Amino acid sequence: MLYSLFRPLLFTLDPEAAHTLSLSALQHLQNFGLLPSRSFACKSRRIMGLDFPNPVGLAAGLDKNGDYIDVLAKLGFGFIEVGTVTPRPQPGNPRPRLFRLPQAQAIINRMGFNNHGIDYLIENIKRSNFQGILGVNIGKNFDTPLEKAAEDYLICFQKTYRYASYVTINISSPNTRNLRQLQNTAELERLLHLLKTEQTKLSDQYGKYTPLVIKIAPDMESSQLEAIAQQLIKYQIDGVIATNTTISRQNLEHLPLSSETGGLSGAPLKLLSTEVIRKLHALLQETIPIIGVGGIMSAEDAKEKIEAGANLIQLYTGLIYHGPDLIRQSVEAICTFCHDV
Ligand code: FNR
Repeated sequence: MLYSLFRPLLFTLDPEAAHTLSLSALQHLQNFGLLPSRSFACKSRRIMGLDFPNPVGLAAGLDKNGDYIDVLAKLGFGFIEVGTVTPRPQPGNPRPRLFRLPQAQAIINRMGFNNHGIDYLIENIKRSNFQGILGVNIGKNFDTPLEKAAEDYLICFQKTYRYASYVTINISSPNTRNLRQLQNTAELERLLHLLKTEQTKLSDQYGKYTPLVIKIAPDMESSQLEAIAQQLIKYQIDGVIATNTTISRQNLEHLPLSSETGGLSGAPLKLLSTEVIRKLHALLQETIPIIGVGGIMSAEDAKEKIEAGANLIQLYTGLIYHGPDLIRQSVEAICTFCHDV
């Protein structure tokens, strides 16, 4: 309700400035004790060995450095994913790198993993009071060659293992050159083998099992998706997030900003990502939980993702267009559908 009053003002600002302003406004409200704490309970569900108070999470990319964990926790998410974070800090791509396409309820971004590095993120996690489920999404630095990418993931995985509820391996952002090649069979096999072996070691070392989740792109042939599903099963990966942003601009060619390079999110991504979820669900046969994300702009969209086979969902662009009340609406719409995995 309140968000619908502020949205027109925010939309007059540069999108990245509006993003920073919104988060720091929430932070200020929190500092003055004026941010009410919301929680939307559902039948709690156990997925990946974790108890989710509700199935609606925050997608990666909104709080890349974990600067706003406590503030975001107050909005009522069932889980929060921070990152993508890389081993070393990096500035990301030059601005402008974030574009609104309001006619299509969409966003194009080519942020390029701008972040302060894994150590900074971990300090923020240690400082936060959040007791809920916190995913950490990890990536590789832009200047790490693809042959050495696995080392970047390994560093981040080792550093974050103790502090994360689960760790997401982001191999699907379109804004880091060649990153999506890690979805190819040989590269993926090497990466999954390395990280799964490390997970066993770290779980012995810390006496804590931190699930490993893979985040995939929506722009894949069925054969590649089948190959990925086989690898997820072979390496007993704990979860899969479908999907990241798309490089497709289908039906948007008429909008001037659609020619901007980057990943497209929001309403035009919805069907593409739901189709990936539907296919994955058939391929995985409920052996591996699916976190559905992409174009959830309404309670009805949230329900569609669950009906297609998602066990949990995440929001990002829908929050920009419709505000945090979308969390409550989504929880209410899907609560009765979800089941444990
Ligand atoms: C993203 N997304 C993203 N994903 C990821 O794994 N790591 C990241 O750093 C980012 N960064 C990011 C920035 C911005 C500005 C946007 C809009 C998105 C992708 C995001 O988590 C999600 O997968 C997609 O945006 C699809 O969901 P929505 O936005 O259509 O609900």
